[in-house]
Amino acid sequence: MKLGVLKETCEGERRVSLVPELISAYAKLGIEVFFEPGAGEDANFGDEAYLGKGAKSTPKNRLLHDSDILLCVRALGANPKSYRDDLEKMHPGQLLVGFLDPLDAPSAIQEAAKKGVTAFAIELLPRITRAQSMDALSSMATITGYKAAVIAAEALPKIFPMLMTAAGTLLPARVFVIGAGVAGLMAIATAKRLGAKVRAYDVRPSVKEQIQSLGASFVELGLEQKKAEDESGYARAMDESFYQKQRELLGEVLSESDVVISTALVPGKLAPVLITEAMVQAMPKGSVIVDVAAERGGNCELTKPGSVAVKHGVTILGPTNLPSSVPQHASMMFARNMFNFLKPIFTEGRLEIDLEDQVLREALVAKDGNVVHPRVIDLLRGG
Ligand code: NAI
Repeated sequence: MKLGVLKETCEGERRVSLVPELISAYAKLGIEVFFEPGAGEDANFGDEAYLGKGAKSTPKNRLLHDSDILLCVRALGANPKSYRDDLEKMHPGQLLVGFLDPLDAPSAIQEAAKKGVTAFAIELLPRITRAQSMDALSSMATITGYKAAVIAAEALPKIFPMLMTAAGTLLPARVFVIGAGVAGLMAIATAKRLGAKVRAYDVRPSVKEQIQSLGASFVELGLEQKKAEDESGYARAMDESFYQKQRELLGEVLSESDVVISTALVPGKLAPVLITEAMVQAMPKGSVIVDVAAERGGNCELTKPGSVAVKHGVTILGPTNLPSSVPQHASMMFARNMFNFLKPIFTEGRLEIDLEDQVLREALVAKDGNVVHPRVIDLLRGG
């Protein structure tokens, strides 16, 4: 069984889907690793490290053609510029695993299905305990939360910790985190470690204790409702009047914050707009917003995804791929998640997809020439 590791082609993408330390683990499953030259270079894993562990360097076209399994960080919908070229060189029965963005770009999944490719979209894994070791969304969100706090600290014209020195007393930076999912909680923890005074808010009331356990205080807006959370633990999309009320109540907290890290997302939707220009205008001069939701439009209406905006003396950062800015650790986590996901599929060197298994079933988007995931089928029908 041959596993091919592609060099990522999305602009600015520095991660790699397999790191050298896992090559021997794959070998134990009867899987030989082939890699495109330079695949891990940007993540600090040179070709010699892969060769040293027994992997074989192979030109891209051969890799696409010969591999039984193709592993990547971003493919199909998550790599809109070049996935068609790659699909052209692939053949029926090949397994493709990675972030495939099936809910935003279902037509790319359809094209892969037409090609006969078996595709697993790793972002659709159920968030259940058994799948935790495979949960690349969580791994990447952890990195995102960490880096969001670090870039906020870098951009702020103040330091985070309180300092009492002979030159006077510096008060701690006031950090406000909106959305306390995986990224938000990591941003809280990192900002706390840097010495900031941290407050946080989430529409899901169940996160209050998690926020407090990190030493931050939970901001009560009096809006929290049980129906804000769905059965999978995700936030539900709320109506515009709810968001309007939320913005009104958040305004005061923002005006008392030096840093806002916003991470509020609703799966399959554009990010809710929670910060208006008027709210930005009321923030202290020099304050910083890191809008982690930028990739999905942003939580702040002034955010420029992938760029920096300075408005009313406030710096608004709209990073779109923070995990890629920490490529070595992000790749190590992603690669381990992928290994944990693939391992149960191989029985004595053979590939067996057990559709009784909830984890495999929910991540599988294309098989035997068809799109098989109900949500993707729905979207393709215009749902
Ligand atoms: P996410 O990235 O979809 O959203 C980020 C956060 O934004 C969420 O906490 C969400 O409630 C919040 N949010 C959405 N709209 C908001 C609004 N209008 N105002 C304020 N906050 C808003 O979430 P993520 O990080 O992917 O986590 C989703 C859920 O999955 C959480 O309950 C998390 O604990 C759970 N989870 C469970 C795992 C498991 O293995 N059991 C693993 C990872 C996550």
